[in-house]
Amino acid sequence: MKKRAIRSLSVSEIGMGCMGFSHGYGEIPSEEYSIEAIRKAYDYGCTFYDTAEAYSPNLSGIGHNELILGKALKDVRKNVILATKITLKTDEVAEHDLDSVMTSHLKASLERLQTDYADLYYLHRLNTDIPIEDVAGAMGRLISKGLIREWGMSQVAVETIAKAQAVTPVGAIQNIYSMVERSCEEDVIPYCLDNGISLVPFSPIASGFLSGKVTADTDFSHADDVRKFVPQLSSENIRANQSLLDLIAKFASEKQATMAQISLAWMLRKYPNVIPIPGSKNQERILENLGASAVELNDAEFSSLDGALNSIPVHGFRGHDEILGGTMKDWGKRRKS
Ligand SMILES: NC(=O)c1ccc[n+]([C@@H]2O[C@H](COP(=O)([O-])OP(=O)(O)OC[C@H]3O[C@@H](n4cnc5c(N)ncnc54)[C@H](OP(=O)(O)O)[C@@H]3O)[C@@H](O)[C@H]2O)c1
Repeated sequence: MKKRAIRSLSVSEIGMGCMGFSHGYGEIPSEEYSIEAIRKAYDYGCTFYDTAEAYSPNLSGIGHNELILGKALKDVRKNVILATKITLKTDEVAEHDLDSVMTSHLKASLERLQTDYADLYYLHRLNTDIPIEDVAGAMGRLISKGLIREWGMSQVAVETIAKAQAVTPVGAIQNIYSMVERSCEEDVIPYCLDNGISLVPFSPIASGFLSGKVTADTDFSHADDVRKFVPQLSSENIRANQSLLDLIAKFASEKQATMAQISLAWMLRKYPNVIPIPGSKNQERILENLGASAVELNDAEFSSLDGALNSIPVHGFRGHDEILGGTMKDWGKRRKS
């Protein structure tokens, strides 16, 4: 698969979001199936894997997802780029110094991942009690010690990125970005392009919506399904956004691709620093999504698609945490509300 850079790292231009094997999209598969899925992605050419210490069933434990990834990739560790994320809680940082808190979280993640370094270490959510400059400084010291190779932040605004960048150069920003959530295009992506930072979109298929397979009748009632908190996925908004799906379906038919592939090919064609990490717990769909790397939109196709997207209004907000500005400090409280 074609490669893109995250500062010093070279990754397949489409990565693999592993969250669904542990959390967020209903019932999770068996560990055996998940490990096989990750190995099939590797055999296909995927070298970029995304996890987080927080990804566990119902977000009630720690490390379920990292353990699976570690088991799946330990034999090919040197050939892959592993990205994981830290959650910093106010109480913990008030009691111990930030460097020791971050080092101990990281070392626990590394043990679960069966490795002695992380390629990319993200701050999962900004905690406004902990200055981002302090986090950036601590990340720089983890890089100096060889415990991580690059660092990044998730779901942050450009002001935060700029403060952090002034302390320790940032490798990647992992924000929500898709055809139906394009706020990143306003200032985050331009800032990243100007400063050599990659943008790793999460939910690039809008939680499955852009594949055309999520309908107004899809059941999100499982206790651990985040889609019931997404206003854009209400039955009413799914119906209201049908014209956007019709547009994607037209391009999919013309390009002999799937709708999910068109949604990924569009963002790859739009920005050279974008590296999407679609998530699926289904082995066939994982390979389908990676296959978007082979779907190339020429200049005329891209401008026709992008122009049409600009003219179609999107109904409903994409996210619950996202629109409220999402800090991890009150993550648990908000998820229950
Ligand atoms: N930084 C953060 O705060 C944050 C937040 C959310 C996610 N993430 C990361 O980003 C990754 C991707 O996010 P996401 O999982 O929300 O992204 P997504 O790919 O937009 O959505 C995943 C959902 O779409 C479905 N889907 C995926 N590909 C499909 C296809 N080709 N056809 C039909 N349905 C398809 C999946 O169902 P099936 O499983 O049934 O295929 C799943 O329900 C996660 O795995 C995680 O690593 C990070």
